[in-house]
Amino acid sequence: MTENSTANKRQKLQKKQIIINAFLMASAGNQTINSWRNENDQTADSFQNPQYWIELAKLLEKGKFNSVFFADVLGPYDVYNGPGNFGPVAKAASQFPLSDPTYFIPLMASVTKNLAFGVTASTIAEPPYHLSRRLGTVDLISNGRVGWNIVTSYLDSASRNLLNGESLPSNVERYDRAEEYLDVVYKLFLSSWQDGAQHLPVLIQAGASTRGKELAARNAEVIFFSSKTKESLAASISDVKEIAKNKFGRDLSKIKFLSLVNVVLGETAEEAQEKYEAAKALGDVEAAKAMFSGWTGVDIGVYDDDQSLDDVNHVAITSAVQKWKEAAPDVKKWTKNAIVDDVLVAGYGPLFVGTAEQVAQKIEDWVEYSDVDGFNFTYTQSPQSFEDIVEYLLPELRKRGLLPEDYPEPLDGKILTYREQLFGDRFLDRTHPAHDLRWNANENKESFESRLPAALERLENGSPKPL
Ligand SMILES: Cc1cc2nc3c(=O)[nH]c(=O)nc-3n(C[C@H](O)[C@H](O)[C@H](O)COP(=O)(O)O)c2cc1C
Repeated sequence: MTENSTANKRQKLQKKQIIINAFLMASAGNQTINSWRNENDQTADSFQNPQYWIELAKLLEKGKFNSVFFADVLGPYDVYNGPGNFGPVAKAASQFPLSDPTYFIPLMASVTKNLAFGVTASTIAEPPYHLSRRLGTVDLISNGRVGWNIVTSYLDSASRNLLNGESLPSNVERYDRAEEYLDVVYKLFLSSWQDGAQHLPVLIQAGASTRGKELAARNAEVIFFSSKTKESLAASISDVKEIAKNKFGRDLSKIKFLSLVNVVLGETAEEAQEKYEAAKALGDVEAAKAMFSGWTGVDIGVYDDDQSLDDVNHVAITSAVQKWKEAAPDVKKWTKNAIVDDVLVAGYGPLFVGTAEQVAQKIEDWVEYSDVDGFNFTYTQSPQSFEDIVEYLLPELRKRGLLPEDYPEPLDGKILTYREQLFGDRFLDRTHPAHDLRWNANENKESFESRLPAALERLENGSPKPL
């Protein structure tokens, strides 16, 4: 072996190995508007054809994806020219209609061994007992391969559907409830059953506000962002790490950070650009406006297409526009049209267009700059986008030492739970506030109950020195 190749090998070994997930919804439309109209797209089949999910699961496991990440919302994006106007998203099938993703997990789990499944469920929607039962069911039947993406909802339509027609409670109220909700879920999973009977799914969280970050820092094992730039991603990760370490005493090596990304790959840069243009040409501007209005909660139908949104005095618009501004500092005027132009293909996250080498380089830059642990890959057409990722991008990432060659070995030689796959652990780590609630397999009832008050006290007030 030459000196150079030894040095290359060493450099490769030192690189951080990342997590790769497929970011899906149980719908024909996800981030790219009107993607279902692409001739290669099969998502219109996803509602009624189990084979769609089965084949996709096999493809993802072949590529050694860590998990499927199912996003979900509980009402249509009906804010634009609304309220109650879901015509534009219905026409473009933008996250509408939307089946319950939980039911597709057993289909996908039955044909895979290592692929894990994160599923979104909102804390406004159902009692914690009911959700725990559902999550516990899919977790057991998939041999511990389930994670729960804890969300507090953002669409008023979801609230109208679920809370007796009431409007969505305030951010503060929703997060207060989420904290309490989570503590009930911990008690149900960890203290009501001895180890071996049931395990707590991996805890995932995404929330951009201060309270969202606090909830994540205290509870989550996987944290998800949708920043448009590596700089804002780095800032969000560093914010949450700071809170997790200093306020909650968490071990940061037991928290993984993920970023959303949409990639369009071609054998040449030109081919990738053509694919991007083709995806955009299918887009529907009204649906893009409706999605943006849903994400921000603000009806942008009241503004002119060419009016600068910088001048609009609305806090949600200002922070959303900031997201796009950072991504394209050269754009002089952030109008509705300028944002919609990006949303058409990219959706709410960043978009990387190019050859496998170019996209892998971007990914490597983002990892180095922000210390992000992995990506949720969304698509412009499914399963074609994932086929491209498996065929072109993943080998390039492996060549660079950014991806492991295979799944890790399971601890007991039989199955790999989601938590094992991520951390090599079966249980919550000891710096997690719910750690002590666990009723160990070899612990008798009296002994467990005698230490339960202290475990509950720690859950409630934190432990001054958990490490
Ligand atoms: C990257 C990312 C992904 C999200 N995915 C979902 C989702 O699938 N379903 C949902 O209801 N909310 C989702 N949310 C919304 C948050 O969980 C949260 O409820 C919402 O952002 C409002 O809280 P915030 O003000 O803290 O951001 C997501 C948020 C982010 C940042």
